Amino acid sequence: MKKTTTVWLALLTFSVSLMDRHVVHAADGDAQRGRTIYEKNCLLCHGPEGKGDGQFGKTTSPPAADFTSAASQKKTEVELLATIENGRPPTAMEAWKGQLSGHEIQDVLAYLKILRERR
Ligand code: HEC
Repeated sequence: MKKTTTVWLALLTFSVSLMDRHVVHAADGDAQRGRTIYEKNCLLCHGPEGKGDGQFGKTTSPPAADFTSAASQKKTEVELLATIENGRPPTAMEAWKGQLSGHEIQDVLAYLKILRERR
């Protein structure tokens, strides 16, 4: 009995760790690295949870996008990627292509995907 419980617990822990890994490696990017990039470059506008409520993002017109909003949730990954790469003139959203490498952009996109799912 006790042995079975241990086996089940081990299995459960293992599957949870698999799920975890799946979330972290959403898209091709690495969300863990993406988080660091986000905190350095995007948080001031998009806020700690991506709700567009960063200290500076609140003051721009239009304000920074809220990734958890219904409108933003509808955007495909390709659309989000295009906005990160090319910016959205004339808003405060600048083009990150050239400032971040292609890898870094994929990483930050993977992190955005996690933020937008956490309403
Ligand atoms: C100076 C403030 C600012 C910074 C810094 C900033 N953004 Fe933005 N972002 C904006 C604004 C403003 C918009 C456009 C909002 C709108 O169109 O209503 C936007 C839009 C976006 C969108 C499109 C969302 C949608 O729903 O269409 C994405 C994706 C995005 N930003 C990602 C990023 C990433 C990733 C970074 C960091 C590498 C970043 N932004 C840095 C202000 C900023």
